[in-house]
Order: sequence, then structure tokens, then C-alpha cells
Amino acid sequence: MKTIVTGGAGFIGSHLVDRLVDDGHEVLAIDDMSSGRQANLSRSARLEEMNIADERIGEVVSKFRPDLVFHAAAQISVSLSAREPATDARTNILGTLNVLDAIRNTPGDPAKFVFVSTGGAMYGEPETLPAPETLPALPGSPYGASKRSIEVYLPVYERLFGIRHTTLRLANVYGPRQDPHGEAGVVAIFSRAMLADKQVNIFGDGMDERDYVYVGDVARALIMAAGSDGNGPYNVGTGRGTNVNDLFGMLAELCGYGTAANYGPPRSGDIGKISLDSAKIKRDMGWQPETELIDGLASTVAWFRDNES
Ligand SMILES: NC(=O)c1ccc[n+]([C@@H]2O[C@H](COP(=O)([O-])OP(=O)(O)OC[C@H]3O[C@@H](n4cnc5c(N)ncnc54)[C@H](O)[C@@H]3O)[C@@H](O)[C@H]2O)c1
Repeated sequence: MKTIVTGGAGFIGSHLVDRLVDDGHEVLAIDDMSSGRQANLSRSARLEEMNIADERIGEVVSKFRPDLVFHAAAQISVSLSAREPATDARTNILGTLNVLDAIRNTPGDPAKFVFVSTGGAMYGEPETLPAPETLPALPGSPYGASKRSIEVYLPVYERLFGIRHTTLRLANVYGPRQDPHGEAGVVAIFSRAMLADKQVNIFGDGMDERDYVYVGDVARALIMAAGSDGNGPYNVGTGRGTNVNDLFGMLAELCGYGTAANYGPPRSGDIGKISLDSAKIKRDMGWQPETELIDGLASTVAWFRDNES
């Protein structure tokens, strides 16, 4: 199949591109390289270096005529979104609509659209954990709100323009090539600091919990979503929360790091506990996580050791 991956040179996008290439698909990555890296991208994929908000994207998509578009390009910083909501919206709302309009204006049957949304920033601080998709969406940041906006647009684009879609709400994704600035940046930040024998800082008491899902499992879920008739949204997580202190302990052991963490004041806006119930995607697509946290962390640390230290 002819497949476009926006954000294909980024962390999650590049793992997805690897799988698509391995499966024999023709892949075009569209990425402005703001955080993406050429080194991440499979040599078998083509790169179009372009901002998703650029109007010329219409020509790129029309020329390529994709069967499938995975949309992973985004402004991913929650804190930047809180400082500059309009900057976030220009990429995450207007940029995404620009991609959808490029699909709708391409001759022939419109490509299927797989949207990479967030679970970690979608439910606020729910009382029910792990959080199912039936909980109300209560984004706590402009980033979560912009992702939610696109979830609301997608059924409209499907009704009006026939663009089929599936939305995945990802938990905190970690793994090799991870950018330290993303939602689950803590694994990359801790690993890098520990391997360089630098001080590690923990905000608050370290009891905040997140649902860490391995990037290889996420790439598999995205491929399954491409072949699914379900619109979602579908949570993609492990259903288990891990606190920062336990994560610190596991990474310290893997890195051979012996220094205690430095505890600072909590960051405003950080949520306490979140984990996602992924029963719906298991039921509809047969997806479930396969990588145990300790194994995924070991692969991640090995990658940082080989590539960045
Ligand atoms: N990492 C996580 O834990 C997590 C969790 C939930 C959702 N997500 C979503 O997954 C997707 C991928 O995130 P990631 O963690 O791989 O981050 P990433 O920064 O590694 O990937 C984003 C990619 O998009 C590119 N990009 C950014 N703005 C662009 C623009 N305007 N035009 C074209 N390309 C642009 C970047 O250069 C980068 O290659 C994002 O949509 C993010 O919101 C990530």
C-alpha cells in the first residue's frame, strides 16, 4: 500500500515507518524535522521535509495518492501548549485540518486516516483507573484540547467527505529514539542522565503514576488500526500505573547508577495518576501490550548507551 506517515522521522513515527517498510509498503514521511531526525528514518522511506500547515502539502499528497495516512506529526509539548495555546493549535488543529483537506482534494477514493491522539492528557485526573474511553474527555491542557478537537472533526470529515478514520489514544510511550521533550520524556531524561552519571531530578514526591507503553507495541497497534473498521477512540496502554520512584529504581539498576534522586517542588499542572483501560482495542482488534516494562526499559537503556553516550 502507498502510505504517508506525518512525523515519520520522529520517535513513534519512525518505528511505525520501520514496520510498514518491513511489511513491504511504500512509505512517504512528511516531517518538518523540528524534532525528527534523518537518522531515525528508514532508508527505504522517502522524506518530504515540510510543515503540515504548509498549503503545498496538497500537491505532495495528490501526487503520491496514498491509500493510508498515519498522522503523528504534532506539537507535543504540554507545557508549551499552556504557554502558547495558539501556537499549539496552529499545528495540532489547523495543520491537521490541512492534511485532511489534502486527502479530501486528492482524486480517487480518499485515504484512510489514522489519528495519533493522547490518552494521558485526555481524561484529566479520573477517579476510575485504569480509565476507559467511556469517561468524559476532560483535557487539562491546550495540547489535550487540540487533540480532542481533531477527534471531534474526524466523524464530520467522514460524513461530509468520506474520509474513513481510526483514532488511537496513546498512554505514555517510551523506547529507543525517544525525544526527551515528549509526554513520556522521563524515561529518556532519566536514562541519559544516569548513563552520563549526572544528577537526576524528580518533581514532587515521586508518587505520580503513568502508564508506560513500549513503542514497538504502539507501532503494532497503529498498523492494526489501519485495517480496522472501528473509529474509536481506542486507548492504547498497559492498564498499569508505575510511579516515578519505581521507574527511577528500575532505570538506576539497568544503568548501574548509584546516586540518589534530587527531589524538587512539584510542577504545576502535572496530573497525579493516570493509566488506560485498553479492553476496547483488545476486543475490536485483538491488540494487547506484549512488552513487559522492565524488558522495554532494558532495550531503551541499551539504545541510549549505544547511540547517545
Ligand atoms: N510520546 C508519547 O508518549 C505520546 C503519547 C500520546 C500521544 N503522542 C502523539 O504521538 C505523536 C508522535 O509523538 P512523538 O512522541 O513520536 O514525538 P516526536 O517529536 O518524536 O514526533 C513528532 C514528529 O513530528 C514532526 N513535526 C512536529 N511538528 C511538525 C509540523 N508542524 N509539520 C511537520 N512535522 C512536524 C517532528 O519533527 C517529529 O519528527 C504526536 O502526535 C504526539 O502527540 C505521543
